[in-house]
Amino acid sequence: MFDFHSHILPALDDGSASVEESMALLLECKRQGIASIAATPHFYADKVSPEVFLLQRQQAFEKLNLHQHPHLPAVVLGAEVQYYDGISHSKEILKLRMEGTKVLLLEMPQTRWTHHMCQEVLLLNHQQDVRVLLAHMERYWFTPNQKCLEWMHSQHVFFQANGSFFVQRQTRKKALQLLKNGMIDVLGSDCHNQKDRRPNLEAAQKMIAAALGQKYLDRLTARQNQLLQP
Ligand SMILES: [Fe+2]
Repeated sequence: MFDFHSHILPALDDGSASVEESMALLLECKRQGIASIAATPHFYADKVSPEVFLLQRQQAFEKLNLHQHPHLPAVVLGAEVQYYDGISHSKEILKLRMEGTKVLLLEMPQTRWTHHMCQEVLLLNHQQDVRVLLAHMERYWFTPNQKCLEWMHSQHVFFQANGSFFVQRQTRKKALQLLKNGMIDVLGSDCHNQKDRRPNLEAAQKMIAAALGQKYLDRLTARQNQLLQP
């Protein structure tokens, strides 16, 4: 499985604090059967330019790479881009896609979205070289933004859900229902550390297989492959 969302690069954002922690997270991902993992540090357009962000990301990646082994999951560089006004006509946005793909992991604000914001996401997604992947859709679904989400999904925006949505007892039922309804396309661990935000896709997959059967895991794999198509 491909993990579409993580903060495993060392000392870059609120994720892994050190190379040692990053290595421990990668080893745990390997144990859980993750073949590749997208490193998606937070990108905030009002705080840093894409150039500086990409340089800092590269430096963190190189530190990690000194310890990387071929048997560990492959790390694909990306970003978790926070929505900003004008994102749909930013030329630089293409540099923030996951390496070798058209996938742009997009984080939306927790506020009520305007019609303009939803339209911008769709405009971004309609660009030929961009496939928008909405990060942790479960954070927005149970809010007044649900209508906008339904609109986005009908217009082929992909939705990522976090492993924790399936693992946590209090949200599990809702997660399985959304997966059954076809609203969840791919999974990400959104792992940050070894304490409270650990890699969790193995547990999420077990939960899905036990509750809904292998068919739904196969469906996630098919959507994953569709999203990663060049
Ligand atoms: Fe994240």
